[in-house]
Amino acid sequence: MSVIPVLEADVLRRQDPELAEILLGELARQSTTLQLVAAENFTSPAVLAALGSPLANKYAEGYPGARHHGGCEIVDVAERVAVDRAKALFGAGHANVQAHSGSSAVLAAYAALLRPGDTVLALGLPYGGHLTHGSPANFSGRWFDFVGYGVDAETGLIDYAQVRSLARTRRPKAIVCGSIACPRHIDYAFFREVADEVGAYLIADAAHPIGLVAGGAAPNPVPYADVVCATTHKVLRGPRGGMLLCGSELAERVDRAVFPFTQGGAQMHTIAAKAVAFGEAATPAFTAYAHQVVANARVLAAGLAAEGFVVTTGGTDTHLITADPLPLGADGRAARGQLAAAGMVLDCCALPHGDSRGLRLGTAAVTTQGMGEGEMAGIAALMAGVLRGRVDARRARDEARDLVGGFLPYPG
Ligand SMILES: Cc1ncc(COP(=O)(O)O)c(C=O)c1O
Repeated sequence: MSVIPVLEADVLRRQDPELAEILLGELARQSTTLQLVAAENFTSPAVLAALGSPLANKYAEGYPGARHHGGCEIVDVAERVAVDRAKALFGAGHANVQAHSGSSAVLAAYAALLRPGDTVLALGLPYGGHLTHGSPANFSGRWFDFVGYGVDAETGLIDYAQVRSLARTRRPKAIVCGSIACPRHIDYAFFREVADEVGAYLIADAAHPIGLVAGGAAPNPVPYADVVCATTHKVLRGPRGGMLLCGSELAERVDRAVFPFTQGGAQMHTIAAKAVAFGEAATPAFTAYAHQVVANARVLAAGLAAEGFVVTTGGTDTHLITADPLPLGADGRAARGQLAAAGMVLDCCALPHGDSRGLRLGTAAVTTQGMGEGEMAGIAALMAGVLRGRVDARRARDEARDLVGGFLPYPG
């Protein structure tokens, strides 16, 4: 199946060569460089087909069976399929698949459970909290009184004792667990216990690990959290978007928090693509994929450590690794630039000890491409070679291109 059917049909190329060039340029970039951004993946051609389908034309404010627009009988079925598949995949009493993004899902969770001014306990931004976990630049920091817990400066692990003591002293209305940079499993049972002790709601922002949860390679927050927010891209390998999972007792509050409180019309093409991705994630092939993502990340983390990177928490349980490249001669920001010039695309991030920036990378995309442990060891060596000046950027770029050429994300 073609990745971009409209391009194959030459429609876009004839009508808008400028945009066709841009789309093909991005396809070429993804097919010639290593995609190590921890939050990215390659969706299947089936997901792309749903995204590029006529469902993109449909307005559908409301929920199946109760829309504000006519002609929703087909898209209603798509949304019901997506909801049923999400509920089955994660063992949830209720799923809302309309959230436009991970941030929209978090906004809706707060809208469902909180009032402006409420106190919320979440991982502090310097330690891997997301912008929606209380950044002053975000609605969350403006509208709620966020209190941040941290990570242990030595181990890089969540400081669970601090979570408990802050919960006891600050009595938050909600506790948020979830991170953009935590490479280890989160102890949801602990967070539930603390939330119960202080009478708080527990919100799990599982944007990163939710795909591993689907594949049985990470603990499921659904039995513990009042509301789980997630993205459908990242390891889950669906379209860019968000979702919320909760018990049936909160279903109505969550749905009303998404529409009409924080969003308008649902994006039905994206919801159909989410359904496709949930279907894919329920297969044994996806279970194998999720476990391979973790196996690859462990080998990559061990390879980086052996090359001299300081790997946060000493390794990973997930798809995600953060590491300090300073012993190799560059801080995270400089290293990201050098590695990008050498055909390896990743992010920089804050590090637990806070005195320099680190690197954040992940194995979701390269594993979708079919790479395994051998390739991960090679990537660690190539990264180190570039940063230590043993391999010049041009040679590294050629090596990265050759490697990706053997594992094209969209062959043909
Ligand atoms: C923990 C967490 N929450 C929320 C989000 C926001 O997702 P989005 O970029 O889709 O708004 C992210 C995105 O990376 C995330 O990692």
